[in-house]
Amino acid sequence: MAKLWTALLTELFLLLGTSGYYNERRSQCLYSSRDLNDMVYIDSYIFNKIEWIRFNSTVGKYVGYTKFGIYNAELWNNDTAFVQQEQNDVEAFCKHNAEIYYSQIMDKTVEPNVNLMSLKQASGSQPAMLMCSAYNFYPKKIKVSWLRDGKPVTSDITSTEELADGDWYYQIHSHLEYTPKSGEKISCVVEHASFQKPMVYDWDPSLPESERNKVAIGASGLVLGIILSAAGFIYYKRKSSRPY
Ligand SMILES: *[C@@H]1O[C@H](CO)[C@@H](O)[C@H](O)[C@H]1NC(C)=O
Ligand SMILES: *[C@@H]1O[C@H](CO)[C@@H](O)[C@H](O)[C@H]1NC(C)=O
Repeated sequence: MAKLWTALLTELFLLLGTSGYYNERRSQCLYSSRDLNDMVYIDSYIFNKIEWIRFNSTVGKYVGYTKFGIYNAELWNNDTAFVQQEQNDVEAFCKHNAEIYYSQIMDKTVEPNVNLMSLKQASGSQPAMLMCSAYNFYPKKIKVSWLRDGKPVTSDITSTEELADGDWYYQIHSHLEYTPKSGEKISCVVEHASFQKPMVYDWDPSLPESERNKVAIGASGLVLGIILSAAGFIYYKRKSSRPY
């Protein structure tokens, strides 16, 4: 009867969320090199936050941390087939899955779309500002730098961090402040795993396309106007010189 009551009370506590039991088995694959040579497999058993037994593939057996754990470690370590199976998981579980993560995600690269634009024209003593943006690249690691007449620029550069778009892709923006000199060449250099070599993007100081279109439309209007006025003038001249 007492047992039943305890069971009911336990259920009640679980329902109320004030108490309960938390049983956890945590399998970890720890590695730091791409060739997976330093792979370690850790298999932990945890009860109410207390890890009571752990298999560590470097040690090659179970180690107990509580009285119950020490007892079970001796028992489980006596079963060589069981221990061997855990040891095999370095290959069968850890390395196998790590290879999948590398081939499906981590080894993949996506080229950035690079855009170079003017943020500010120079005016008076105020320097001009260019922005070099790289969009939609993967992985995160990237280097954006600047060249002035082929020489690396070391000052007056500010850059954002690599910003996560939230869809595995990243973007970054680098700003260069400079006082324009006529005839000089400014370039943005982007280095990324998706490129065979550093990519150089030269700044074209002529007007951007939208500005060029406005100029073209304006010039066409002017030409049309001149032609129509000339035609009108000729028509007027002919008509007025005709004898009545
Ligand atoms: C696994 O065992 C090795 C060798 O004793 C030790 O250096 C390492 O810290 C252990 N790793 C864990 C997570 O217990
Ligand atoms: C484990 O094996 C050893 C030697 O075969 C034996 O003495 C010991 O009692 C065993 N331990 C358990 C918990 O079965």
